[in-house]
Amino acid sequence: MNLIMKMLAVPATVLALWAVSAQAATNDDIAKRLEPVGQVCVQGQECKGMEVAAAAGGGGGAKTPDEIIAKHCNACHGTGLLGSPKIGDAADWKKRADKEGGTAAGLAKVAFTGLNAMPPKGTCSDCEVKDLEGAIQKMSGLK
Ligand code: HEC
Repeated sequence: MNLIMKMLAVPATVLALWAVSAQAATNDDIAKRLEPVGQVCVQGQECKGMEVAAAAGGGGGAKTPDEIIAKHCNACHGTGLLGSPKIGDAADWKKRADKEGGTAAGLAKVAFTGLNAMPPKGTCSDCEVKDLEGAIQKMSGLK
């Protein structure tokens, strides 16, 4: 290689390296901007945020009446949708309870099997009668 070629080759190499690193930076920027808002979690791999989801989803574990109502019953009973007794409408709940022995426990049995537009278990598929009873007590004020 003669001197002229060497002199040309060095800056060309530098330029090439610069171009590669500039490209990398740009790709990083693009990748950042394209990052999904939600992230896919693969089973068996650590995944940020999943602990929270698992706790809230309550795969069987402890369910409070408030959680059951918020997740399942409120969709209809919050507004009285489809003619359902509204949360806090004690009179409507009492009238219904009176047909079932006057208690939330009686209503829970009806809720468990469903009634007309009221879906079985109020869509809480892993709820037991006791879980429904707790939610009904809260919604109706009945014991
Ligand atoms: C898809 C809407 C919907 C959801 C969700 C729902 N309900 Fe209902 N529920 C109804 C409707 C509609 C009625 C009135 C049915 C009727 O009287 O024909 C009703 C009635 C009831 C009754 C009164 C039954 C009776 O004997 O009169 C109870 C108790 C009840 N729901 C409990 C629950 C509980 C507990 C949940 C949540 C776990 C729940 N419901 C979720 C629609 C819903």
